Amino acid sequence: MHHFSNHKSRTSVAAPRPRIFILGAGGRLGMALVREWRNTFSDYEIVGLGRQEIDFENPENALQAMKAFELKEGEVIVNCGAITDVDRCEREPSLATTVNAVTPTLLAYLASESGVRFIQLSTDYVFDGTLERPYRETDRPEPVNHYGVSKYAGEKGVLAASEYHVVVRVSWVFGPDRPSFIDQIIRRALNSTEAAAIADKISSPTYTYDLACWLSLFLKEESPGGIYHLCNSDHCSWRDYGAYALQSAAALGIPLLTTVVAPLKLVEMKNFLAKRPVQTALDTTKFSVLLGEPLRSWKEAVDEYVRCFIAG
Ligand SMILES: NC(=O)c1ccc[n+]([C@@H]2O[C@H](COP(=O)([O-])OP(=O)(O)OC[C@H]3O[C@@H](n4cnc5c(N)ncnc54)[C@H](OP(=O)(O)O)[C@@H]3O)[C@@H](O)[C@H]2O)c1
Repeated sequence: MHHFSNHKSRTSVAAPRPRIFILGAGGRLGMALVREWRNTFSDYEIVGLGRQEIDFENPENALQAMKAFELKEGEVIVNCGAITDVDRCEREPSLATTVNAVTPTLLAYLASESGVRFIQLSTDYVFDGTLERPYRETDRPEPVNHYGVSKYAGEKGVLAASEYHVVVRVSWVFGPDRPSFIDQIIRRALNSTEAAAIADKISSPTYTYDLACWLSLFLKEESPGGIYHLCNSDHCSWRDYGAYALQSAAALGIPLLTTVVAPLKLVEMKNFLAKRPVQTALDTTKFSVLLGEPLRSWKEAVDEYVRCFIAG
C-alpha cells in the first residue's frame, strides 16, 4: 500500500516528456526515425505524423494542424515529408513548391515562434552535379530540375525562419521501410540473369539506420543550426552500388541468377523526364567533426542492410 501511494505521487508530478514530431512519418526515412527513436529515447515522446494528420498540399491547413499540438519550447520537429518523385515534380512544379517549400517554411516559422528547432531534410539534387569533387555545405546550389528547385527553396525558407534550424542534405536513401534501388536490383537478380544500372551517375548511398543515429545529435539543444551533409562515406555509381549489393547478397547465400551489373548511360534513360545532376557525392567532413568520428562507409552499411533485412 505504502509502495503504491509513493508510485502514484511520483507519476502525478512527473513532467510530460518533450515531444519530437516526425513529419512524413509514413515515408522511408520517417518510419525509420519513429521506430529507432522510440526504441532509443525514453525521455522524449516520439510523435509520428503522416499525410493524414498534416497534409502539406494545403499550407494553411497544415499550419493549423501543427498549431493544434501547442508546441513547447525545447521540442523538435523533423520534416521528412516531401514529394520525392523527381519526374512528378517536373510535371507538377507548383504542387512540388507547395509541398517541398511553402509548407515547410510556414511550419519552420511556427517552430521558431515557439522555441522549437525545425530539422528539414533536403537533397544532393540542390546541386548541378558538375563539380569533380564531393560537394561541401559552402558550395553553391544550382538545381537542374524542379525537385531541386523546390527543395532548395525549402532550405532557404527554413533557415530564414531561424539560424537555430537545421537543413540536412542526404542522398540515395535506403532502408527497410520502403523499397529502393538496392531492393529492386536484388529482386531483379533473383529473377533474371541480367541486371543493369547507370554507370555515369555518382553519389553516396545513405542508410536510414545510420541517419537515425546521426540525426539524433541535433536533438541536443546545444548543437548548432545550419546546413549539414549526411550520408555514408565514400561514393560510387549506381552500377557500383548495385554490383556491391548483389555481391553482398550472394556471399550470404541468397540464390541470385547473376552478380554482374551491365553499365547504362544516363543519356540512355529516355523515360527520365527531369534532368538529373551527374556527380552529387556529398562531403560530410563538417558533420563528422561535430560527431567526433568518421561516418561509416556505404559498403559497410549495405552489408548490414542485406544481412539484417534481405538474408535475415
Ligand atoms: N529517397 C532518396 O533517395 C532521397 C535522396 C535525397 C534526399 N531525400 C530527402 O529525404 C527526405 C525523406 O525522403 P524519403 O526517402 O523518406 O522519401 P519518401 O519515402 O518518399 O517519404 C516522403 C514522405 O512524404 C510524404 N508526403 C508526400 N506528399 C505529402 C503531402 N502533401 N503531405 C504530407 N506528406 C506528404 C509521403 O507520403 P506518400 O507516401 O503518401 O506520398 C512520404 O511518406 C525527403 O526530404 C527527401 O527529399 C531523399
